[in-house]
Amino acid sequence: MPVTPYRLRLAENGDIQEIAVMSRCLIEVGLRGWTWHPTRVARALRARETCVLVADIRGRTAGFAITEFGDTRAHLSLFAVKPAHQRHGIGVAMIDWLIESALTAGIDHFTVEMRANNFAARSFYETLGFRHQQYINGYYQNIEPAIRMRRDLQQHAASREPGKTV
Ligand SMILES: CC(C)(COP(=O)(O)OP(=O)(O)OC[C@H]1O[C@@H](n2cnc3c(N)ncnc32)[C@H](O)[C@@H]1OP(=O)(O)O)[C@@H](O)C(=O)NCCC(=O)NCCS
Repeated sequence: MPVTPYRLRLAENGDIQEIAVMSRCLIEVGLRGWTWHPTRVARALRARETCVLVADIRGRTAGFAITEFGDTRAHLSLFAVKPAHQRHGIGVAMIDWLIESALTAGIDHFTVEMRANNFAARSFYETLGFRHQQYINGYYQNIEPAIRMRRDLQQHAASREPGKTV
């Protein structure tokens, strides 16, 4: 099936509601309450240290990633692609974009947590070079465990230097 053209851009106010709904339906599904409600997403859009990236298809939010940039660590807080657009490479394109930004900012590693039973996400991150770092009991609402994964960026940075073939 042909891949619908998409573009990556920073999120705007018009994306807030859709990001929050995608979070509820694709990430927080089955958990009590709704933690990434529109007000919290709006706060992330305004935060200086947070990047909210969107994959845009004809003006609609097809995917998004909320990433916090620290001094040495970038942390992917929330990330999803709508089911109709999954397995078209949009997720990889967003992570590549974020990793390039992290390298430019001098970040040396990326982390992400996911529900321990989210095998699709684990497989996705593994294909991108993330490795299992920690199993965290009760991470979600003191009930559900999480897996923390990490990707070191030094090797990636070295491979971008002219003449290096890491
Ligand atoms: C995880 C997620 C963001 C991946 O987005 P995506 O755009 O579908 O990913 P891509 O198309 O770039 O996939 C790249 C590769 O990752 C792996 N992958 C992606 N989804 C997978 C799945 N469901 N099962 C196994 N491997 C998968 C595959 O190797 C895939 O390459 P292929 O399609 O050529 O086999 C998407 O499945 C999603 O939104 N899931 C629901 C929300 C979620 O779990 N978010 C992450 C929480 S941290």
